[in-house]
Amino acid sequence: VTADRSPTTLDPDDWEALAAVGHRALDDAMELLEGVAEGPVWRVPPAEVQRALTAPVPRTGTSLEAVYDDVRRLILANPHGNIHPRFWGWVNGTGTPVGVLGDMLAAAVNPNVGGGNTVPALVEQQVIDWMKALMGFPPGASGLLGTGGSMANFIGIASGVYAKAEVDLRDAGIAGAPRRMMVYASSQVHSSVDRAVRLLGLGAQSLRRIPVDEEFRIDTAALRLAIEEDRSAGRHPAVIVGTAGTVNTGAFDDVEGLADLATVEDLWLHVDGAFGAMARLAPEVRALTTGVDRADSLAFDLHKWLYVPYDAGCVLVRDPDAHRLPFDVTPPYLAPLTGGISAGTWFSNYGIELSRGFRALKVWMSLRVHGTDAYAAAIAANVAQARYLAERIAAQADLELLAPVPLNIVCFRYRPSGLSDEAADPLNRGLLIRLQEEGTALPSHTLVHGRFAIRVAITNHRSRYPDFDLLVERVIQLGREIASSERSTVAS
Ligand SMILES: Cc1ncc(COP(=O)(O)O)c(C=O)c1O
Repeated sequence: VTADRSPTTLDPDDWEALAAVGHRALDDAMELLEGVAEGPVWRVPPAEVQRALTAPVPRTGTSLEAVYDDVRRLILANPHGNIHPRFWGWVNGTGTPVGVLGDMLAAAVNPNVGGGNTVPALVEQQVIDWMKALMGFPPGASGLLGTGGSMANFIGIASGVYAKAEVDLRDAGIAGAPRRMMVYASSQVHSSVDRAVRLLGLGAQSLRRIPVDEEFRIDTAALRLAIEEDRSAGRHPAVIVGTAGTVNTGAFDDVEGLADLATVEDLWLHVDGAFGAMARLAPEVRALTTGVDRADSLAFDLHKWLYVPYDAGCVLVRDPDAHRLPFDVTPPYLAPLTGGISAGTWFSNYGIELSRGFRALKVWMSLRVHGTDAYAAAIAANVAQARYLAERIAAQADLELLAPVPLNIVCFRYRPSGLSDEAADPLNRGLLIRLQEEGTALPSHTLVHGRFAIRVAITNHRSRYPDFDLLVERVIQLGREIASSERSTVAS
């Protein structure tokens, strides 16, 4: 039979041959995940790989088999980090094998979930409804899946600014606001909030950073005073951003107190719960999240502590009309008809993007396969591991814990007695680089009270207790080696 094929199609001549490579790829992917603990956490990308990745744009094709060999050699063979049990950098989730299948199938079905009456849009709506239920939001709230916490923070804060403005910002713009609109957050707020404020045209002068207490929680009394002060100076207090789980140390603002203040002062309360909001799933730490269900908008990530493969974040907004205010634009070619494919939900009116991928599928499949109990157990295990690590650090004379550990983040440093703060900073920087480059374990870093900290953030369902023992032992060994080599350099 002669196939009637357009000469320009990108479909294969031989579907079976393509599927054979696909089966190999799937086997290799699962083998990679199953054996990931045996290799290093990370390696500097080898020079040979860097060279290969500067090849010019290919004018003619190469066989899939040859390209797949390159994928194995260049990508699969080179550890990049966060799928490994000893990766604890930034707040990167681990991903799951089920999520791999979800993303593969999402690519095959390939819908544009910008909107319309399609099953993928219903899947996303169900995932959003599940998220509302988990976070204690009312069924009538709106929501959107997006790339991550940064986008979710932007959408929540934009909705708040537009909802609280004294003019219609869609028409007048920020320049038309009679008073400078003010956004409040703690000094520990995530940088994506700075970016959101900047992108909204408010400028850094509109973001007031409120001091924190010794546990890195916002000082609510100082916030109240700042709001009063701004009002009397002719500014317009508009949005409070509370944090449920700060990126540096995992601290929780008193969100209940913030919700009370926002109600009394008529401000919008946005909560950044990028990873911390998921603590609601685990009875052991759920109390920390008290009040997040009272937020006007809530941002959180699914690629962090729901362990879904990158990328997936979520924003929920209590009032759908407020949610749509900054985003709702319907040109004639997108206007829904009373029937047909256009008659469904248009997610594009709830965020910046019109075209959107089917990231809901990996979340939907993962939640169905594992159930929320499994997530609750994995989250509780990560919290217990953080406490275990903090205890081990506290028991070591040469290690120093730098911040309280309310959740899953541990900040510490190598500091034997007699080592000054000034000397500890460069020593720990060097130590962390060595630890990362040898591939033993991968914490990242931050500053705590201005001091360099090795920072372990555990959103990893593959980590086990011996992984943390290894970290403690290796940090001490490396610290001693570096300190003694520095001593001998000074002596010689
Ligand atoms: C508290 C907090 N907010 C926001 C973000 C940004 O999230 P994303 O990296 O998914 O954009 C992070 C990332 O670590 C975070 O920890």
